[in-house]
Parts: sequence; structure tokens; C-alpha cells
Amino acid sequence: FAAATQPKPLAGRHVLVTSGPTIEPIDPVRFITNRSSGKQGHAVAAAAARAGARVTLVSGPVSIPDPKGVDVVRVETAQEMHAAVFAALPADVAVMAAAVSDWRPAEVAREKIKKAAGDPPPLAFVENPDILATLGHDGRRPQVVVGFAAETANVEANAARKLAAKGADYIVANDVSLQGGVFGGDRNSVRVLSAAGIDVWPTLAKDEVAERLIALIAERLG
Ligand code: CTP
Ligand code: CA
Repeated sequence: FAAATQPKPLAGRHVLVTSGPTIEPIDPVRFITNRSSGKQGHAVAAAAARAGARVTLVSGPVSIPDPKGVDVVRVETAQEMHAAVFAALPADVAVMAAAVSDWRPAEVAREKIKKAAGDPPPLAFVENPDILATLGHDGRRPQVVVGFAAETANVEANAARKLAAKGADYIVANDVSLQGGVFGGDRNSVRVLSAAGIDVWPTLAKDEVAERLIALIAERLG
């Protein structure tokens, strides 16, 4: 049986979503990463698909299932995510929910670093490309660009800076202090910043945050 006909506000649109952490290798057996579960980004991809969009989800390593009806491109490092995002263009909408590693080890050791006598090995880092900022200022920029801002302090001021610096239409800001339980949890308390100001949303299931965000994007697309 066909489900009751629902409005498909994103029919004919291509929505590009990043989700999850990236991981940056140190040597063949070790890497650095972060606490992102991918739940919020995957929920956005699923909501976009339910709204009728063709969805490309570029995801770092996560332990949750692929959302239904979405093309998933799996990556590990920030550089791979950057390349996959640009390879997926053109898109009408980009939602960059991934927790991209800001830095990667300057050199990846080809062999496992051994626990030799003496000091622990020093780690030097180099900065990764800022995928959102690059896309936000690119000639192929999607019509609607959304970023997230993970903050542990001064949430609104930091998010406002990111809105301007990254060329985004919206920044979804959340407080990721450890006691807040956002990382890995099923609920999220966000503030949505745009040129129009700041909208404080109630604490919602990540699926509901995703639904609302997709509705906002659909409205903006017209
Ligand atoms: N982002 C990105 N590429 C990066 C770093 C971040 O695309 N190399 C995106 C994230 O996906 C998110 C937004 O930029 O949508 C903000 O990420 P966040 O880590 O909060 O901001 P940063 O600019 O990295 O600043 P900081 O970590 O110092 O707060
Ligand atoms: Ca960052």
C-alpha cells in the first residue's frame, strides 16, 4: 500500500550532508579523532530524503546504520571528506554537520612507532582544510549552506563569528560541554543563527532538530 501522499518540499533537490568525526592517522595502528557519533548529521540526511531530496551523505567512521534512501560516501580523514564534498557538487543545499579534525599529524609514520626507551614521541600537527568555509566562498556554492558550531563556552558569540567567517546562511550552535551529553546522545539543544538573528530551539530529539532544519531550508529555497 502506498503511504498517504505527503508533501515533498525538497523533490528535485540535491542535498549534501557531512556527518560523523574524521580520523587522522599517526601511524598504521594509531589515529586521533573526536567524540562525534554522527547521529545529528545522519538524522539531517534522513530528514532530507523523507522530504524528497536526492541526498549525498559524506560520513566519517560511525557505528550507526546508514539512513534510508541516501547515497553514502565513506571517508576517514578531513582531506578525504573535503575531496568527497567537492566531488559531490553541484548541490542545492549543503549541511556540514561533521566534526572535522582541525589538525592532522604533520607526518604519518609508515611503520608502527615503537615504544623505544626514552621520551614519548613528539607529535607535530598541521591544519586541515576548512570544508565549510571553502564551500561557503566557492563559485559552486550551494544555494543554502548550513554549518554547525560545537562550543563549550560563549556559544552565541563564537557561532556568530563562524556564521560570518564561513559564508554560511545558518549556523546551528550547540553546547558540547561534556556534562551536556550531546555527543552520542539522542537529544540536542540548539540555537540557530542567521542574518535574521538567533532562534533558540527547545531541547529536542536529534530527529526533530533535523526535521525542523529541513523545513527551514525548504522554506528558504522557496
Ligand atoms: N568544519 C569544516 N571543516 C573543518 C572544520 C570545521 O567543514 N576543517 C565545519 C564543521 O562541519 C561545522 C563548522 O565548520 O559545520 C564549525 O565547526 P567547529 O569545529 O565548531 O568550528 P571551527 O571553525 O573548526 O572552530 P573551533 O573548532 O576552533 O571552534
Ligand atoms: Ca573545529
